[in-house]
Amino acid sequence: MSTLQSGLGTSHAKIILIGEHAVVYGYPAIALPLPSVQIQATIRTAKVDQTIHSRYYDGPIQGAIAELSGIRRLIQHLLLHFDAVDQAFDLTIKSQLPAERGMGSSAATAIAIIRCLFDFFKKPLTHQLLLQWANFSEHIIHGNPSGLDAATASAQTPIWFVKAQVPQELKLNVPGFLVIADSGIKGKTGEAVRLVAQHVRDMPNHYRPKLAALGTITTKVKIALAKADIEDLGQLLTAAQTNLQALGVSSNQLDKLCQVALANQALGAKLTGGGQGGCMIAVTKTAAQAQRLSNALQTAGATQTWIQPLSEIHTLKSARGSIK
Ligand code: MEV
Repeated sequence: MSTLQSGLGTSHAKIILIGEHAVVYGYPAIALPLPSVQIQATIRTAKVDQTIHSRYYDGPIQGAIAELSGIRRLIQHLLLHFDAVDQAFDLTIKSQLPAERGMGSSAATAIAIIRCLFDFFKKPLTHQLLLQWANFSEHIIHGNPSGLDAATASAQTPIWFVKAQVPQELKLNVPGFLVIADSGIKGKTGEAVRLVAQHVRDMPNHYRPKLAALGTITTKVKIALAKADIEDLGQLLTAAQTNLQALGVSSNQLDKLCQVALANQALGAKLTGGGQGGCMIAVTKTAAQAQRLSNALQTAGATQTWIQPLSEIHTLKSARGSIK
């Protein structure tokens, strides 16, 4: 192991445009990568100990806080895979992503770490292998993930995703603006996924149609995107929010931010990601409307907002963020 020196891995945030939760039950989802919102993991050989340095925890891997237990288990399994369980290292995770906000922080962190360790051990990493490891980590964290977060965090383009199928690249050429707002409250993806599973188990006749409705809406969003029909897109996002509320995965703050969006010329609004906190998204026709909406959302309690021109979504280089 003395030849090993350092390794680097990066990854980025994602936004689910439509289809969260329903995607766990086999319905499609559309997700957009946000390559400008980055995570970076670097590793260096150390003399003793296995140490993690991150915003949330700084110390030996064995003592990692509960929130990092998924990451700890991922690293331990990777070390086992590389036949290096006792390798001493310093691992540093730098993230521009708010954790647990529905922007795919856990999957993106896992992807950066997997790339970093494969780089450190000088082993080739195929896309398929990357996804296998990322899904392994998401299983530890979320219990029953669809694979959407891992697929999007490793993709450079918008994707059309169906569980257990190869993600399809989606070409977007749509006018208008996406406004993303952080409710300031931690999302609870694992809990929300379990809640929906419990609802479906206890009252299938009541809850299954809501998932099916979300599936239909996602297909209609694909058509609206293909037709560059932003008005339709907006209405479909709002219709999805009604179903997500009915599934119990929204929150008072997310509902409030969606209402503020609709009262401020948004064409539509919904939560994004696991829900019960985390982020919401809204679409507007013009840049000026997006800026006014962004200000209104911050006044209503959003802790951070981003404006993304939909026309530039294939590169997403231009997401502009502001923190309250
Ligand atoms: C979480 O970002 C998305 C969910 O659909 C869960 C999943 O797809 O695994 C809520």
